[in-house]
Amino acid sequence: MIRKLIQLLKVLKWRRQIRAAVSTHLALLEDPGIFALGGLTAEEDLRIAELVHAAAGWPGPIVEFGTLFGLTTRLIAAEKRAGQPVITVDNFCWNPFGLPPALHEEFTRRILRGELCTGQVALHVGDSATFRAQYKGDVPAMVFLDADHSYEAVRDEIAWAQGLGVPLICGHDYGNPRFGVTRAVEQAFPAGVQVRGMVWSNKYGTESRR
Ligand SMILES: C[S@@+](CC[C@H](N)C(=O)[O-])C[C@H]1O[C@@H](n2cnc3c(N)ncnc32)[C@H](O)[C@@H]1O
Repeated sequence: MIRKLIQLLKVLKWRRQIRAAVSTHLALLEDPGIFALGGLTAEEDLRIAELVHAAAGWPGPIVEFGTLFGLTTRLIAAEKRAGQPVITVDNFCWNPFGLPPALHEEFTRRILRGELCTGQVALHVGDSATFRAQYKGDVPAMVFLDADHSYEAVRDEIAWAQGLGVPLICGHDYGNPRFGVTRAVEQAFPAGVQVRGMVWSNKYGTESRR
């Protein structure tokens, strides 16, 4: 009886997390096609690889906003020019499994262990806005925006990248009606962007290479 009461109290305490975990699980059972779970599809992976190859033509790092579990980070690290730094930024506020932030970070660090150990990738734990405000490094060759998908956040990340003169600006979730990405992108690039799957990119290569 007491054990059941304790279990009930735990369910009440964690009901928000339990609801999120059950809803993710049910969504997966109903449509395994959404397995990307906040990450990228195979088609989008190919597009990211192309963009990373293009970024090899510029000095400066590749910056990813929104690491999640580091799967796209690993792809970027595998496809980048040797010696080109990769910086990935996450405040670990969201993941599709409802992992608490500390566990989410630890899990991601394990996935990225090889890249972090060799120094190919630097993981910045913190908010995108704070990272941008404090950034004093070289002008990035490419920024990939996939963190906070609100209109305001994407607008501000694009404005930061444009202000620095980043030649290749791209991101995820273009055309996703749940988010404000499309509005922010269309406003910042009135001449249009290139889109593959939900990966958008500016017309890179039209600006002079440094
Ligand atoms: C859609 S997932 C990123 C997916 C990842 N790019 C991939 O392809 O696998 C979004 C990530 O952005 C992070 N995030 C959300 N808002 C953020 C913010 N304001 N600053 C930093 N990270 C943020 C979340 O913690 C989450 O890990």
